[in-house]
Amino acid sequence: MGKIKMDLQAALEKDPAARNKFEIFFTYGGFKALYRHRFAHWFYNHKMKYFAKLIASGTRRKTGIDIHPAAKIAGGVFIDHGVGVVIGETVEIGANVLIYQGVTLGGTGKDTGKRHPTIEDNVMISAGAKVLGPIVVGHDSKIGAGSVVLKDVPPHSTVVGVPGRVVKLNDMRVDDIDQKLPDPILEEFARLNRRIEKLEETLKIKSCKYSITQENSVDGIEDNAIEREIVELENSIDNNKENLNKKEQ
Ligand SMILES: CC(C)(COP(=O)(O)OP(=O)(O)OC[C@H]1O[C@@H](n2cnc3c(N)ncnc32)[C@H](O)[C@@H]1OP(=O)(O)O)[C@@H](O)C(=O)NCCC(=O)NCCS
Repeated sequence: MGKIKMDLQAALEKDPAARNKFEIFFTYGGFKALYRHRFAHWFYNHKMKYFAKLIASGTRRKTGIDIHPAAKIAGGVFIDHGVGVVIGETVEIGANVLIYQGVTLGGTGKDTGKRHPTIEDNVMISAGAKVLGPIVVGHDSKIGAGSVVLKDVPPHSTVVGVPGRVVKLNDMRVDDIDQKLPDPILEEFARLNRRIEKLEETLKIKSCKYSITQENSVDGIEDNAIEREIVELENSIDNNKENLNKKEQ
């Protein structure tokens, strides 16, 4: 009975459109589904699985919400709108969780035993989100509408997208997308440039000033700059030859 009271209170607090507990009790599909689940779960745990399943199938027919009677759901959970919500057999849901319509807490089809997610306290799972596999959604997290979450979610995160990725952690933006792809050709050019620089230092000559592997991009090169560089290079080689000749004499 305690859990049912907590569910009523949660609905009142989480739904800005809710006016009073009486209305919630008699008209909210999400509340009705949870209320009936509490009984179904009790029968399931007391070796009356058939009766439990009968209640669950009636709930699905009446509300469009499918909760397996074995699912462990703490008090103070609110399923808003609710149609199309599916909650699998080994799901565990903590207190104060908000679930919108079209949410699936299901399996990937690859696991056995515990194959459905664990949702910790104070999590919000937005409309149409799919949370799949025996993963843990950490407390105080938000799952964005339409996301497909396949990996553990740390506490205090916001996860969005398909597949779901953490975009906020402790209210800070997470730039976890490394868009720098390795470019082996550019890396090889960089290595060659470094070797050329070393050789030039040794020979005391100065040639190419521009490199696409350095900060100066090719955009900055004037039309005849490369020609000028070649002339500079030839001059510096000539100077070096002269110096060497002088030394030899
Ligand atoms: C995820 C959500 C809860 C917002 O959480 P939040 O922590 O406040 O996150 P923000 O709004 O700061 O968004 C963070 C980033 O994720 C993006 N984002 C938010 N929701 C997204 C979604 N569902 N899908 C893809 N990207 C999303 C935002 O554009 C933002 O990106 P940016 O930083 O590049 O601009 C919210 O966007 C959401 O999905 N709400 C749906 C609620 C719902 O189901 N309502 C149904 C009522 S009937």
